[in-house]
Amino acid sequence: MCGIVGAIAKRNVVPILIEGLKRLEYRGYDSAGVAVLNGTLQRVRSTGRVAELEKMAASQGVSGDLGIAHTRWATHGVPSERNAHPHVSGGISVVHNGIIENHEAMRQKLRALGYEFLSDTDTEVIAHLVHSHVKTGRGLFEAVRQATSELVGAYAIAVLNEKDKTHLVVARHGAPLLLGVGEGELFAASDASALVQVTQKIIYLEDGDCAELTLDGAKIFDDKGNATNRAVHVSQLTPDAVELGSYRHYMQKEIFEQPMAVANTLEMVTSAQTLSANLFGVEAENILSQINQMLILACGTSYHAGVVARYWLEGIAGVPCNVEIASEYRYRDSVPDPRCLVITISQSGETADTLAALQYAKSLGHKHSLSICNVPESALLRASDLRFLTRAGPEIGVASTKAFTTQLAALALLTLAVAKLKGRLTAEREAQLLKELRHLPSALTTVLHVEPQVKMWAEKFTNMQHALFLGRGIHWPIAMEGALKLKEISYIHAEAYAAGELKHGPLALVDKTMPVVAIAPNDALLEKLKSNLQEVRARGGELHVLADQDTRIMPAEGLHVIRMPDHAGMLSPILHTIPLQLLAYHAALERGNDVDKPRNLAKSVTVE
Ligand code: F6R
Repeated sequence: MCGIVGAIAKRNVVPILIEGLKRLEYRGYDSAGVAVLNGTLQRVRSTGRVAELEKMAASQGVSGDLGIAHTRWATHGVPSERNAHPHVSGGISVVHNGIIENHEAMRQKLRALGYEFLSDTDTEVIAHLVHSHVKTGRGLFEAVRQATSELVGAYAIAVLNEKDKTHLVVARHGAPLLLGVGEGELFAASDASALVQVTQKIIYLEDGDCAELTLDGAKIFDDKGNATNRAVHVSQLTPDAVELGSYRHYMQKEIFEQPMAVANTLEMVTSAQTLSANLFGVEAENILSQINQMLILACGTSYHAGVVARYWLEGIAGVPCNVEIASEYRYRDSVPDPRCLVITISQSGETADTLAALQYAKSLGHKHSLSICNVPESALLRASDLRFLTRAGPEIGVASTKAFTTQLAALALLTLAVAKLKGRLTAEREAQLLKELRHLPSALTTVLHVEPQVKMWAEKFTNMQHALFLGRGIHWPIAMEGALKLKEISYIHAEAYAAGELKHGPLALVDKTMPVVAIAPNDALLEKLKSNLQEVRARGGELHVLADQDTRIMPAEGLHVIRMPDHAGMLSPILHTIPLQLLAYHAALERGNDVDKPRNLAKSVTVE
């Protein structure tokens, strides 16, 4: 979590740093700060949002041609000005993303050297440590290298020294950091979107890299201290991809971008008549034909995508599949199988638990891995043998929407590829399923038209404290996703149950103050689900049902129905996600919440 930006140029970099922070605010928004050199070090910190910091910097006339900036998601120490970055020691100023695990021990050591701590953060340790090495006569670069060799944990840092206006030093280990190359100017940031305003030329630093940035360019050294070159990539990001345009919120924009995001993700199959496993990498055909089971590891919304995929992979491809929450898997003893494919799913590709779960799986002896991810060059993609880049485009709203539906599109492709390799897909069935996939973007556009009806539901949810989401079979994880969306942005407590479980306990909660949302497609479980819905109605529960055209579920007193288009077969879970996203969005709006930046959360969860 946390976003960092750095810049060295022959012009005032404050507007560049502030604009970068605005684009990184999705990573955390508890506080923000900037430090620049202009003769002396000028530092401004705010417990408000970046817009507040911008006003403060303008009113204090802060400017300089070398600077660093930070937007924080609090881990060590409450959100407050004294805990906001940059942290300063002597003339050394540091911004940091990550967690320093040995900060307690380092604090004691530094206190013994006479350093006084002014914040509760782990980051302040870095500032003092670098300063202690500069004091012994080391240059900034050497001091940072020495300091990082003493740190345990994860970090991406940018450091400047008030006494040296010629360079900025950055380093990364376990947290993302990239450089942006301008004309006679250089930048550093947590992700490319922060720099889209100034450059599209990006250098992704590798783990363990430390770099010195001057007006003449970047000198990069790898984890062994050897000078190294890293390739310059041209980012495909355009400024308008990260602009709100005519939308009120990023979440709204991203919900409505789903037809295009899914179309982009499926682009490789839209013109093809048959499916090739090599969509997942050059080794995919070889690896996928060897595997005899799958293990999916992910967190949050990405975990829900994994649970949907399990139904597909077992039902269509006939391959046994387990799905585990990454943070649980990484700490339990389990039995590895060299013929198991470990699949990690992540929007950001930098979720600490998912990355650690993959490393753990490998350490146990799992041989094959595949990552499905939305961020090119992310740590997760680089850690896997096979990879699939969803093409949702940048997702800025903290609540994941288009990343989820594109993950499902990718997992549907994987299912078909594996089913084909395992001889479980006739050419006719393959052609039929590919046709359905091609139709998916336009089906999504149709479903978005239910928004006015969903909005009416949302108005009624506004004053509720709790809600229940029900689904069966492959729509149960979609109910889980609906409940997660509602709680994270509207703060209404919501739970999801497999509808058959209702009578085993949760039915006790149902009364007229507990709205119940049910996903009722016309599939093999429809009649069973209808019985579960009767159980709710009989207890006075208010039902809100997403029903396919031909389900014969009719609106009645206490029974509200939104008609979905014709049953979409295998792809039905993707379509049913849309109204649930819209429900959460409108409920949050009605309650006056900050839809894109819900309290206590951050987009990118790089801590355990
Ligand atoms: C919820 C949400 C989170 C993420 C989770 C994993 O809307 O976005 O639950 O899905 O933090 O993040 P990624 O997918 O980046 O690994």
